Amino acid sequence: MKPIVSKDSIVYFNSSCYTALNAYLEKANHSKIFILVDSNTYEHCYAHFISNIEKEYDIEVIEIEPGEINKNIETCSSIWSVLSEYGADRKSLMINLGGGVVTDLGGFIACTYKRGINYINIPTSLLAMVDASVGGKTGVDLGNLKNMIGVISESEMVLVDTQYLGTLPTNQMCSGFAEMLKHGLIQDKDYWSKMADLSKLTIEDLDQLIYDSVIIKNKIVTEDPTEQNIRKYLNFGHTLGHAIESFYLTHPEKPELLHGEAIAIGMILEGFISKELLSVTDKELKQISDVILATFPKVSIDPNDRKEIMELLIHDKKNEKGTIYFVLLNTVGDAKYNCTVSDELIIKSFEYYESL
Ligand code: GLY
Repeated sequence: MKPIVSKDSIVYFNSSCYTALNAYLEKANHSKIFILVDSNTYEHCYAHFISNIEKEYDIEVIEIEPGEINKNIETCSSIWSVLSEYGADRKSLMINLGGGVVTDLGGFIACTYKRGINYINIPTSLLAMVDASVGGKTGVDLGNLKNMIGVISESEMVLVDTQYLGTLPTNQMCSGFAEMLKHGLIQDKDYWSKMADLSKLTIEDLDQLIYDSVIIKNKIVTEDPTEQNIRKYLNFGHTLGHAIESFYLTHPEKPELLHGEAIAIGMILEGFISKELLSVTDKELKQISDVILATFPKVSIDPNDRKEIMELLIHDKKNEKGTIYFVLLNTVGDAKYNCTVSDELIIKSFEYYESL
């Protein structure tokens, strides 16, 4: 699989990952290398990673607790302090070995420490491979509000080594499928059709589908790195999905919802709205709903919670001058951004989801 090149970064796959990394490390001559892991990736992924490093380097491992709940400025603050204590300078390198929380958080820490040191993403979850680690979005949550603080700044490279997926629990794997389905829905009907039947998937297919997903994402972020226009497509399912995710984050009495699980619901809701406002057909909406529900069992959202979820929409990062903007589908494989949607229609979309 050929590396995928963007303006300021490059994504390597499987066998080429560590060749590229070793060549880079040797040439760059860093003063120190910091590896950010969480306790899961330290246990399951670190040994594989370090066994592929050919030369001796001055390496420190920084371990954090796993989970979205730790993706906040307090965690950053403690890691900035560790970097400072261990004498990290501008020639230091940060390697983020983990899922989306580690790559988002580690990227942000690297981009802000001493006004920026280089970093590399080694995603270990499917979601981070196809989405979080590619395109330079870094950041942390503000309370329950997702990714409110951050910067867009590309990593030196992304290493997608699908061997790490062998350590991933099924729900985390499914969470990544949501973003892959999204890539098909917004940009590539053929890719959507391939993704639509996950039951027939082999390991070889999965590697190719991951590769194709990164191609779709990379094409969009290369054309619009700072989300002025078409990068907004990547937010399909995320306007309502993020609001639902934020709502569940602050209601621990409700079942835990992973990012992809919330986005899966958001894609059905926004698919319904697309049918009402644009040209998605009944047949397409049924297929979108069936495909998503085959991987993401329905979550019962209490109608009394809809108001609180909808109030969270005001924090969406696509909003301008108080107007909430959605990304909708013209049809499968073709998205439209800056769409406005009435509250009545949003309620109808929840009713549609409930009826499935
Ligand atoms: N995850 C959406 C983006 O990278 O723009």
